[in-house]
Amino acid sequence: MSPFLLTRTLPVDATDAALRADVLQGLTRHPKTLPPKWFYDAHGSELFEEITRLPEYYPTRAEREILIDRADEIARVSGARSLIELGSGSSEKTRHLLDALPVLHSYVPVDVSESALHGAAEALLAQRPGLSVHALIADFTGGLALPGTPGPRLIAFLGGTIGNLLPDERAVFLKSVRSLLSPGDALLLGTDLVKEEKVLVAAYDDAAGVTAEFNRNVLRVVNRELGADFDPAGFDHMALWNPEHEWIEMRLRARRAHTVKIPDLDLVVPFEAGEELRTEVSAKFRRDGVRAELGSAGLRLDQWWTDSGDRFALSLATAV
Ligand code: SAH
Ligand code: AVI
Repeated sequence: MSPFLLTRTLPVDATDAALRADVLQGLTRHPKTLPPKWFYDAHGSELFEEITRLPEYYPTRAEREILIDRADEIARVSGARSLIELGSGSSEKTRHLLDALPVLHSYVPVDVSESALHGAAEALLAQRPGLSVHALIADFTGGLALPGTPGPRLIAFLGGTIGNLLPDERAVFLKSVRSLLSPGDALLLGTDLVKEEKVLVAAYDDAAGVTAEFNRNVLRVVNRELGADFDPAGFDHMALWNPEHEWIEMRLRARRAHTVKIPDLDLVVPFEAGEELRTEVSAKFRRDGVRAELGSAGLRLDQWWTDSGDRFALSLATAV
């Protein structure tokens, strides 16, 4: 079997410090917020995989359709010898790209979820014993140090995860991706598209309640990591369309007035009855907006592909 290397560029205590800072900042402001990257402990990563199979959650299926249709074209245009994937999760859809890239030397999945990286590497190496997999436990918003794999490099950021960053965070992120690209390298970016409100809301408020559990999971993470006493069942899951920002907001709404103790932060957090904590935004895009955001980061939109239902888009971009 070929090598599977797991590198941690995020020290364990850095993760802890980052969580403390995010929880302290997010729960002492009004309205309260928590960043979505803390959903993804092992259980959260499993719940996300379950979400991707829900009838209401179309983005994964739509993006897979584009990948299947366009993998050969992406391979030909990019000529990639290294595929770097940010927020790779299970890498399940990525196999369509891996199969299409004839001269691929290395696959570099990058994720904060160690369990997801392990699961992905195990599945990939079982099916493709010749592949060199260099997994990185890293925060893609934090100045990535990539391994020196051979070019051309294709950086993939799939799933619409860019929509989980706020607009100013996206601008910083895209500039950092631009700084990683050498001539001949490319970015493959997945973006969910603006569509009918009821389709969007259903995708984030499924009938089986899996997204609700995914949403509440962030409270379980804070309980475990910081000794907090959140009662996840004391919060209702909410998914709302914000037409001004064109994003879905996930929130957790306190059913009753109560306080939550977070001993590791020496903090007591009061919640009013009905008070809402924002846990995620999931921005939806239009072609002109994607082109403009890429352009502001020094990237040119070269290709734009959508699925047959025009629900999701894959963009291929290169450095200007
Ligand atoms: N790309 C996969 C998974 C999407 S879920 C797909 O399309 O299905 C989002 C993934 O991004 C999760 O695996 C999560 O752990 C990871 N993630 C979220 N925020 C991150 C961050 N700041 N840095 C690195 N990985 C992150
Ligand atoms: C990972 N990300 C693109 C997902 C999304 O659709 O914004 C996370 C998610 N949140 C709720 N359901 C899925």
